[in-house]
Amino acid sequence: MPQIDELVLVPPFNVTRASHVVLNVRDLAASKRFYTELVGLVISDEDDATVWLRGLEERAHHSLVLHKSHDLSCQRIGMRVASETDIYQAQEVFARQGRKTEMLESPFQGLTLVVNDDAGVPLELCADMTACERMLKHYDRYRGACAQRLDHYQLQTPDVRQAWAFYQALGFRVSEYTYSQEQADLPHLWGVWLQRKGNPHDIVFTQGPGPRLHHFAYTLPDSNDLIRACDVAGALGYASCLERGPGRHGISGALFIYFRDPDGHRIELFNTHYQHIDAEPAQGWDLADPQRADQWGLPAQSKWFAEATPFTHVPLSSPDLHIDPPTLERFLAMANDA
Ligand SMILES: [Fe+2]
Repeated sequence: MPQIDELVLVPPFNVTRASHVVLNVRDLAASKRFYTELVGLVISDEDDATVWLRGLEERAHHSLVLHKSHDLSCQRIGMRVASETDIYQAQEVFARQGRKTEMLESPFQGLTLVVNDDAGVPLELCADMTACERMLKHYDRYRGACAQRLDHYQLQTPDVRQAWAFYQALGFRVSEYTYSQEQADLPHLWGVWLQRKGNPHDIVFTQGPGPRLHHFAYTLPDSNDLIRACDVAGALGYASCLERGPGRHGISGALFIYFRDPDGHRIELFNTHYQHIDAEPAQGWDLADPQRADQWGLPAQSKWFAEATPFTHVPLSSPDLHIDPPTLERFLAMANDA
């Protein structure tokens, strides 16, 4: 098993960043209103069953795909790769590992490969997307939180170390991690913040029943837009959708708010992240340190710890931690923090 700071500098194929998330929603009109009027995304395309949305600074056609369905789950999370060659290389690598892969025809996307990671997460690798106009300077089109671009996903999984090992081998680097010292043999890994694009994270795994999508996150232009998002939420009747924040994370240091969409899918909106490019040791946080989750010490609602979106047709399993139930309950209540 590699060490937490061990880097794969020449990965078998080149993942460049978190790219897009595909969600099932019950009512397309209701979700469309939430994501355009409150979050501030723009619609790239739509039909009777699907809406494709992007952030204001994004050139790629979509970072959020909403499918009409009664199965309220996440179909897939997407990672962008550098070229079609990387897709074929990924297919070879996964075939050698005995994994089932599928080349997918997906509207507005180039060559697309689907595979499940070791946590069971359906992962979509995409080499290209239709290019759309960057709306960055169309300030007349800014609405709600004015979300700029998709930044990362956070997921729950019963085995964080297993999830980390899968992505570490693909060149993902750990910027920060959480651990507990309750087990005498070795510190237990509770969360890993993994990145390819040069900021603290593209994908995060924390301990919990899973695999489940805890949240996906968009950047905002400025910290003032967090307050504006709360005001707009109140004005549009979405006040009850505000689940946590505003606050400031210890891990990553960002100002944040979290909303639940009309179907309960959780979205984070945050202001900025630091640069993480040079080889450097990852920062570890003891779970006993309350400031890793929120520098201001504000507690989250209990549903924050328990509720997350399952993946379509992917069974859930729970952690087998060999920790006494009261301690386990306390740790699970601390496990999700960014
Ligand atoms: Fe996050």
